[in-house]
Amino acid sequence: MRRPLVAGNWKMHGTRASVAELIEGLRNLALPGGVDVAVFPPCLFINQVIEGLQGKAITVGAQNSAVEPMQGALTGEIAPSQLVDAGCGLVLVGHSERRQLIGERDEVLNRKFAAAQACGLKPVLCIGETLEQREAGKTLEVVGRQLGSIIEELGAGAFVNAVIAYEPVWAIGTGLTATPQQAQDVHAAIRAQLAAENAEVARNVRLLYGGSVKAANAAELFGMPDIDGGLIGGASLNADEFGAICRAAGN
Ligand code: PGA
Repeated sequence: MRRPLVAGNWKMHGTRASVAELIEGLRNLALPGGVDVAVFPPCLFINQVIEGLQGKAITVGAQNSAVEPMQGALTGEIAPSQLVDAGCGLVLVGHSERRQLIGERDEVLNRKFAAAQACGLKPVLCIGETLEQREAGKTLEVVGRQLGSIIEELGAGAFVNAVIAYEPVWAIGTGLTATPQQAQDVHAAIRAQLAAENAEVARNVRLLYGGSVKAANAAELFGMPDIDGGLIGGASLNADEFGAICRAAGN
């Protein structure tokens, strides 16, 4: 049985004051048993969040990390080893905003993924198609290429210690959610692609759905056989809403 994971991606949101409030809200949540919960604050607030959530079963992760595992001369970047030292357990790799707005390509993401794993930081590989690609019938090709890039470079075994998040770009921050069946179809294809290399890895890897998940649609999505939780953007900035989504994963 795969244990569900619900993770909040705070993106570039927050001030010290609003983060303190959010921490307080998270501390007060009744979290369901049997569900892993994580949050990804902006790097600036990672120490504050880790300290504030001490004793609460919420893993803290980073939204990005460097292509090199260890600290060194790389201005503006943060090494996976530094994130581990701070107490992080996870890192997002290849979020569509970074692929599209910063221009991160598969070769760079392969290095970030490997560097994170080299330090014991678990990567959450984000993949997904744009609206144009979906309308052109290229969804599975695009997602397959993004996943295939890591498999080719590092082997399917790399997913023993990783999570995959399928996030259709057209559903992120738009209020448009993939239907549970649309999401399930892609998740099944992702699992099949891994299964062709290694059936056990495919069976055990957690596949999250992301894109306008809220308390109102979470249970339906999480009820699909290949959806093992969610990566939550906007709705994770509200502790009560986020808590409701976590509970939906527990039912
Ligand atoms: P959203 O973002 O929930 O605000 O659509 C999801 C994400 O980008 O991870």
